[in-house]
Amino acid sequence: MKTVLTTSPDEAAEYIKRGGIVAFPTETVYGLGANVFDEDAVAKIFKAKQRPADNPLIAHIARVEQITELAAELTEAAGKLIEAFFPGPLTVVVKKKDKVPLIATAGLDTIGIRMPGSELAHHFLTASGTPVVAPSANLSGRPSPTTWQAVLEDMDGRIDCILQGDATQIGIESTVVDCTGDYPVILRSGAITIQQIRSIVPAAHLIETLPEQPRSPGLKHRHYSPRANVELVTDRERIAAGDKSAYIGLRSVSGLFALVRICTDLDEYASALYEFFRACDRRGIETIYCEPVAEDGIGVALMDRIRRSAAG
Ligand code: TXA
Ligand code: MG
Repeated sequence: MKTVLTTSPDEAAEYIKRGGIVAFPTETVYGLGANVFDEDAVAKIFKAKQRPADNPLIAHIARVEQITELAAELTEAAGKLIEAFFPGPLTVVVKKKDKVPLIATAGLDTIGIRMPGSELAHHFLTASGTPVVAPSANLSGRPSPTTWQAVLEDMDGRIDCILQGDATQIGIESTVVDCTGDYPVILRSGAITIQQIRSIVPAAHLIETLPEQPRSPGLKHRHYSPRANVELVTDRERIAAGDKSAYIGLRSVSGLFALVRICTDLDEYASALYEFFRACDRRGIETIYCEPVAEDGIGVALMDRIRRSAAG
């Protein structure tokens, strides 16, 4: 299959309408989308990404009214979080309508819904005329793409179209909150922080702090990993500089590395991380040293992604 590149959200939406799969930018990372109600199109996403069939997809919408096409019911907490944070980097998991095909939700009776905040995503989703299910547009297990070039690297010849936008602003995936229970459970941390969620619904919990909770299916899979080894730096004395090593962090580092990225703040670190991983793989780097950050604000999500990459 030839993968068409376009800067036109209307042209990209034509492929969705015809049952194709399209990569598009959001404020978090690039997604790989299909019409949620077209089972054959949704199946193509799993194939193109080599994604395990038990990992559910997030439905992306342009307008809050589209929630009624997807959700059977909304808890009070879901309603409040939607009002507070849509559009934005938040996914709410709610009970799904029967007409939402099970292939999209990996057999679950719930669906994650998100309304991206970026202008181009909004235009594309509006033109598509339907909610669009989309995982991140990387090959399964690879770092999520934050540029259209990174999408092309993984997906050239595997998908119908790439909507070319700028590098994504946030750079790590949305906060995923399960709103189906008595209180919201944050399944995946992201740019909307636990403090922000609790300011709206004080009873919200982080999944890590709850014993015996069923995890989000996606979290058991290998994630966000470059080919290089990722090391979270616990002892700066043990950083081994060299032409097969790279370093990313807030503080500068001594020694010669093949690649170094010193970020001015946590937001920059988060937005640079995945592209840095990919740049390291292109250079054949063996070890990527990542400086740990305080687990506060977006630092929670950043440390979560670095730890998962290090484990991968
Ligand atoms: O920022 C994002 O969320 C990006 C952009 C493209 O919107 N999307 C993204 O999708 O990161 P993906 O598929 O790579 O990650 C979705 C995560 C997975 O961990 C998945 O298991 C979880 O959300 N998830 C999706 N639907 C769920 C559901 N119904 N119940 C529990 N977890 C769900
Ligand atoms: Mg992903």
